[in-house]
Amino acid sequence: MPDPTDPGAFWDEKFDRPDYRYGTEPNQFVADALPELIDTGQQVLCVGDGEGRNGVWCARQGYQTTSLEPSAVGIEKIEALADEHRVQITTIHDRMPSDRVDDEAFDAVVLTFVHAPEPTRKQIHRASVAALKPGGVIVLEGFTLDQRRNDRTSGGPPNIDLMFTEQILRDDFDGLEFELLAEMTVQLDEGDGHRGPADVVRMIARKQ
Ligand SMILES: C[S@@+](CC[C@H](N)C(=O)[O-])C[C@H]1O[C@@H](n2cnc3c(N)ncnc32)[C@H](O)[C@@H]1O
Repeated sequence: MPDPTDPGAFWDEKFDRPDYRYGTEPNQFVADALPELIDTGQQVLCVGDGEGRNGVWCARQGYQTTSLEPSAVGIEKIEALADEHRVQITTIHDRMPSDRVDDEAFDAVVLTFVHAPEPTRKQIHRASVAALKPGGVIVLEGFTLDQRRNDRTSGGPPNIDLMFTEQILRDDFDGLEFELLAEMTVQLDEGDGHRGPADVVRMIARKQ
């Protein structure tokens, strides 16, 4: 049984499979939002990029992309997917907060379904803000409390304490300008890991 306080070991076990747990296509919200927010050639950091579906898509769009991921298996799969698409991606095998991520270096930070217990959750979020250049944006999607209250089977941690609410994000990202912050029910179709109706929160927030 992997140790849930060690995200690398925990996610190594989940990603150790021949296919991609969340598929190889990007998260829909990220794919819709990012091109409206930043230009080709700008710097993107994908935090907790898993097996690289978002990071590799970002690189394919022409963004200068860095994927940070605590799972060694995830890092291998990110690099394999990047090779398959013949794109360059910088990988960082670490967890957030990470001293290998420079402050004010990125035009956008992508966070999809990176759930962690307090105080780690807030540390991940504050470190993501620190990594943003002034004027940069965070694009985030995660599950809400309703995902567990509605007994959804479309993914997310079993522990309700790890879920987000709009208010949690408002507090964690205090000081940013929220261009979107909304809880909603969506249909996920992201590999075996996220499939079906899901209660999520989506956020676009800009650093001043
Ligand atoms: C549900 S998976 C989502 C993966 C990916 N973002 C996606 O949507 O396909 C959660 C990811 O968060 C990562 N993670 C957990 N704790 C983390 C931390 N402290 N810093 C960075 N990533 C973390 C895990 O390693 C895992 O890859």
